[in-house]
Amino acid sequence: MKTIVALGGEGIGVEVVDATCELLAAAGFPLRILTPPHGEAAQKTHGAPVPDETKRLCGQADGILFGAAGGPASVAVITYLRWQQDAYANVRPIKYYEGAHSPLANPHGIDFVVLLENMEDLYPAREGDLEELGRAMPELCDRIGKRVNEYDMGRFAVKVVSRRGTERIARFACELALKRKARGHAGKVSCVTKSNLLRRSDGFFREVVEGVVAQYRDLAYEHFQADDASRRLVRFPQSLDVLLCMNLYGDILSDLAAEAAGGLGMAPSGCFGDRWAYFESIHGSAPDIAGQGIANPTATILSAAMMLEHMGLASEAQRLEAAVACVYRAGKHLTRDQGGTATASEFCKATLEALG
Ligand code: NAI
Ligand code: MG
Repeated sequence: MKTIVALGGEGIGVEVVDATCELLAAAGFPLRILTPPHGEAAQKTHGAPVPDETKRLCGQADGILFGAAGGPASVAVITYLRWQQDAYANVRPIKYYEGAHSPLANPHGIDFVVLLENMEDLYPAREGDLEELGRAMPELCDRIGKRVNEYDMGRFAVKVVSRRGTERIARFACELALKRKARGHAGKVSCVTKSNLLRRSDGFFREVVEGVVAQYRDLAYEHFQADDASRRLVRFPQSLDVLLCMNLYGDILSDLAAEAAGGLGMAPSGCFGDRWAYFESIHGSAPDIAGQGIANPTATILSAAMMLEHMGLASEAQRLEAAVACVYRAGKHLTRDQGGTATASEFCKATLEALG
């Protein structure tokens, strides 16, 4: 028996996690499912969005499943699960399932991973006023020689690319590509930067990645500028295997890739640190459809499958993914985003039946 902690978060996050937990419980997998207080409710009852007891349960669990964040109290849950735990590798599988609602003429065979570096680049949000930056770095100027204190006012954000942070995500990308190669994929890392314009920061990321990839003789390698990568995702998605991205580019490209493969409601993810992992859909709390029961739970069910595999329940994970694929192939119980009329719980019921 293994223990998982399920945290819905906010909006449709709560709905899809509840539906997924019901499915996991009914499937008879060897799981004990805990749902400790978190987010806005915990803020009211415990005075903190992630109470100590919830942290303790997460620390002891075999797996953690999260729904989605929206407002500050649920973002605080992600802050705990992702940034405070140094979960630096964000794995976002992009896969077409027969019957899914892809806008592409030929989505068949799309099966790759967008891998985001989670801890560096711009998203840690080191921001401030231009005035402060001008005082601290009076000589800092752009490519045409304009100094920061020549602007009347404004803000800045700092992009950080460290050798250690880049080496570890590059190694993670290579190990992931090797694992995938063993399962019949190409064994290729495609690195995404804007090294043509950001030569020192993105150029450094690219250089460090290429140094690490060179140690892996069995892998192919290519590099794309981020704008070119976005085009390739749509035009040649079948040619990709592991797309290694800095944080900002990866966040944008993974939504684009998810939509190309079938829809945001189908895209799962896992965030990994050296001794930590948690799993969540890549979509947000979707306030436009929250409370209606119509959100697509596929992304969360597939995130749960990733979690089960990580916990050592590989056959349960495979059965769950196969059941989801079966529901899409049959096409009778799909949610509204997929052109159907099923609710989240009806989709889960169909998945349970497909599990047999
Ligand atoms: P979103 O991902 O919540 O929604 C974008 C669009 O996709 C909406 O039209 C929504 O209805 C649809 N959608 C998303 N998931 C769906 C599902 N499972 N089934 C059917 N349709 C689905 O992104 P949005 O609207 O930009 O952000 C809403 C809130 O979520 C914001 O507060 C944002 O910061 C947060 N967010 C949180 C994320 C996370 O928890 N990791 C990721 C992205 C956004
Ligand atoms: Mg995103």
